[in-house]
Amino acid sequence: MRIAHISDLHVSSPLFEPEWGDKLIRCLNEADLDLVLVTGDITMNGHLYEYQLAKEFLDRIEPRIMIIPGNHDAMNDGYELFEELFGTRKPFFENEEVAILGLDSSEPDINDGQIGRHNYPIIKEKLSRDKVRILALHHHVIPVPKTGREWNILSDAGDVLSICIDMDLDLILSGHKHLPWVWELQGSHFVTAGTACTRRLKGRSYPSYNLIRIDGQHILLDQVNLLTGEKKRMIDKFHQPSRS
Ligand SMILES: [Fe+2]
Ligand SMILES: [Fe+2]
Repeated sequence: MRIAHISDLHVSSPLFEPEWGDKLIRCLNEADLDLVLVTGDITMNGHLYEYQLAKEFLDRIEPRIMIIPGNHDAMNDGYELFEELFGTRKPFFENEEVAILGLDSSEPDINDGQIGRHNYPIIKEKLSRDKVRILALHHHVIPVPKTGREWNILSDAGDVLSICIDMDLDLILSGHKHLPWVWELQGSHFVTAGTACTRRLKGRSYPSYNLIRIDGQHILLDQVNLLTGEKKRMIDKFHQPSRS
């Protein structure tokens, strides 16, 4: 199974680059993907016209798409528009190899994130099968280096982290920080995607996305530089059945 993990498109931002957006869509449509997973911040302020632009953009992606909102999408009642245009804020995908749960970590009109105690049982219910298990959120669970002072991590990051580790989740995917990064903790990998096609970049970083390949128990993750096409292998591991 091949999955692209893209994030932080911010299509209505003045720093969104239409040429980069076109290139991203070309890459996704030519990559023989089974799924494109979008970890939020498709708009800047969650307004209707921005959602319409985002929908037009995302509709050009040919593979199946799974999407969760980010903090920017929840602004101005945007989370209701999200549901109207894209459906549930807790999407779930499962096949014989993989189970993927997306959860909305945004809170209306604030940048902080939260998963919330009411969602913990959903993680346990949906991701307890013995297959590759992926949790997708907008906010990062572990701080990302070189992204300034930490000020809007998940407010319940400790509890979410503990669930991810106790369940031996394989991948925890997020966005939000606009800088790609991978942390490994006790066999679980916490992956932050960069911004896929905006100039809202940190320092001399570049627009990027992640390509995930799951072959039975084998999990590979490459970070792709959108501008050069260069790939950097970030994860090469085998799924470990849950200890709990
Ligand atoms: Fe963002
Ligand atoms: Fe964000």
